[in-house]
Amino acid sequence: MRAEPRSPPCTGVRGLWQRPLSPAPPAGLTVRAKGRSRTTLLIIITTYMLLHLNTVFGAKSYRSLALNPIQRPEMYIIGTQPLCSQLTGLSPGQRKLCQLYQDHMVYIGEGAKTGIKECQYQFRQRRWNCSTVDTTSVFGRVIHIGSRETAFTYAISAAGVVNAVSRACREGELSTCGCSRAARPKDLPRDWLWGGCGDNVNYGYRFSREFVDAREREKNHPRGSLDQARTLMNLQNNEAGRMAVYNLANVACKCHGVSGSCSLKTCWLQLADFRRVGEFLKEKYDSAAAMRINRRGKLELVNNRFNPPTPDDLAYIDPSPDYCLRNETTGSMGTQGRLCNKTSEGMDGCELMCCGRGYDQFKTYKHERCHCKFHWCCYVKCKRCTSLVDQFVCK
Ligand SMILES: *[C@@H]1O[C@H](CO)[C@@H](O)[C@H](O)[C@H]1NC(C)=O
Ligand SMILES: *[C@@H]1O[C@H](CO)[C@@H](O)[C@H](O)[C@H]1NC(C)=O
Ligand SMILES: *[C@@H]1O[C@H](CO)[C@@H](O)[C@H](O)[C@H]1NC(C)=O
Repeated sequence: MRAEPRSPPCTGVRGLWQRPLSPAPPAGLTVRAKGRSRTTLLIIITTYMLLHLNTVFGAKSYRSLALNPIQRPEMYIIGTQPLCSQLTGLSPGQRKLCQLYQDHMVYIGEGAKTGIKECQYQFRQRRWNCSTVDTTSVFGRVIHIGSRETAFTYAISAAGVVNAVSRACREGELSTCGCSRAARPKDLPRDWLWGGCGDNVNYGYRFSREFVDAREREKNHPRGSLDQARTLMNLQNNEAGRMAVYNLANVACKCHGVSGSCSLKTCWLQLADFRRVGEFLKEKYDSAAAMRINRRGKLELVNNRFNPPTPDDLAYIDPSPDYCLRNETTGSMGTQGRLCNKTSEGMDGCELMCCGRGYDQFKTYKHERCHCKFHWCCYVKCKRCTSLVDQFVCK
């Protein structure tokens, strides 16, 4: 095992990790597919890869296939790559990358799934809760609309991929990367050692950029068209998601020395908890920039009183559909049947959640841990309490 045991990050070292990104892709990561025939593209575009990947990669058969190459020795024989041809939803460029980096595929799938779960957590109290009518892909038809919500799903999925690949490198799961080789932060105290095995955020970032963006770069829409606007929007949001993981990664340290004396510290680069990435991107969602395409084929602000988005920011081109009512065309699920909070004045409050339609009241039993006692040493024992609580459900 190359992985270092993790320990809580030391205080006083936050913000040390602020190295500019290197623009060059990692060696060997230069496969780019040029334009494909329009019809092929149209078929492929209809479902966005990550979201599609989630269904593909979710399959048990695929996982075991990927994780047990011994059972499938032909996986490693060049030219016979059953895995990549079996995966539907990959663009031509992604298929090539899949053949070159087969061992990465399971982490791409896992990363996208982590992103989706985080999306559902962050939006659990919103009208749009990150799931939709269409069950063939997780986000369904709602992502055909270039809305603020779509921007978030692209960003968080791309972030999930960076996260998973960076960690897989550290854990020694991938043949083309290992521990982070990030330079020692300048302001790390001199007597602290730099060199524990860190998450390879650099590699994760660059690989994800090649792979996730490949499908957007293959498109060749007319300049200034709505399709081009959508491509640019996707690229912006993918990048914002990756940057979030990159910038939130920080220095973590571990103490050594006689019985906790901490006379020696070893430090390394560590990914932030993915929940923090989700929270950060949720703030970016709240401040996302409304954009439109100009004739030169660039996105510009709809309202130029605001600052233009930086690469860290989310951007969208369409207004959000109505999430109150179920609508098969837009893919909105509506809020009927959603739980709401009678006393809250926020988005989870019954007034806003139910869009003024009112709510039904139920009584339900709630089970909780209670009367917890600390026992020497060292465990906590709790009782299980049941109480009758009110629940409110949108009409
Ligand atoms: C569904 O949404 C579309 C687009 O906003 C709208 O034109 C249509 O009237 C809606 N349908 C229903 C049944 O609400
Ligand atoms: C989202 O809301 C719908 C009802 O509008 C519900 O069926 C679904 O389970 C919810 N999804 C999550 C992840 O909470
Ligand atoms: C409902 O909202 C109130 C006010 O925001 C909050 O104090 C309370 O904990 C919420 N109840 C539930 C069950 O989430």
